[in-house]
Amino acid sequence: MTLPDPARARSVFGAVHLGYVVIETERFTDWRRFGADAIGMHHDALGSDRMRFRLDDQECRFLLRRGPAEDVVALGWHVDDHADFEEIEARVRAGGLRAVPGTEQQAAARGVERLLRFPGPKGITQEIYTTPKTADEPLRMVARGFVTGASGMGHVALTSTRPTQIRGYFSTVFDARLTDFIDETISGAKLKIRFLRVNERHHSVAVAAVRGLPADPIRTRVQHLNIQAAHLDDVAQSYQRVHELGFGMALTIGQHTNDRELSYYARTPSGFEWEVGWNPIVIDEATWEPSTHQGISVWGHRPHGQTIIGKLAQFRAAAASLARRERTVPQLSGPGIPD
Ligand SMILES: [Fe+2]
Repeated sequence: MTLPDPARARSVFGAVHLGYVVIETERFTDWRRFGADAIGMHHDALGSDRMRFRLDDQECRFLLRRGPAEDVVALGWHVDDHADFEEIEARVRAGGLRAVPGTEQQAAARGVERLLRFPGPKGITQEIYTTPKTADEPLRMVARGFVTGASGMGHVALTSTRPTQIRGYFSTVFDARLTDFIDETISGAKLKIRFLRVNERHHSVAVAAVRGLPADPIRTRVQHLNIQAAHLDDVAQSYQRVHELGFGMALTIGQHTNDRELSYYARTPSGFEWEVGWNPIVIDEATWEPSTHQGISVWGHRPHGQTIIGKLAQFRAAAASLARRERTVPQLSGPGIPD
């Protein structure tokens, strides 16, 4: 398999938008406080085993289901039209993978129509849908608003020992493009981060790898999720609420080198991080050229409350990752895309 296929008739670039995230957790009470009271999103309870958060008029941006994973288990991608949906479905099936239509119950929980589910890197199920349902009920949330629309609802960052395969996967499935790289040294480890876009948003997926060491320091499948506040005030005020309500802070407020987003990183009740950002650049396809930035931040983003226990847990996770092979989807990743 050669990737990407230059003879491919149809590109779906620009027609795919991160639409929702599915999280499995037992910590519903903490997540409700975190999502609604600290971050400031709209909360809806769906019985005792499910709850959702909204960012805008769509019924579901985060679906939390009860279970032991304490992790992100699926990503939902909104696809603009049925032809693009069928193109993506054809690519998945051409790879010999099982693509399973979502049940009525699954589609209803996610607030979408025409749902298809298939395997993704690191065991994160990938889901596509054509039509999000909008809520009848007006938004009740502490935050003033979030940026979604054509850019999608934010981004997802993964750590990986197989970054070129993840790049191959998203290129094959969604025609993802490389936006840029960041080289960074954290606690003596040299990291290379690849930023992939599927629309005008600078990146919808970021993939961090430790250079020269096939180890993954992060227990969870995602390192962080990002949502974009429409107003700078909401970044500052939610930062304050995260502190006041006793949730952990991972990185203080700072500004990124590549997308220029001003943001902070809180620690979710499930352990992965949650970035609230503001004002990232939008990519102009006519002029954009990938480059490499040194360091993740222009200023700020200082580690906060890093304890020796946390560091030891990271080393333990990295050691464990050496022993288990990362789950990839070779049928759709091909040989991977080298840098
Ligand atoms: Fe981020």
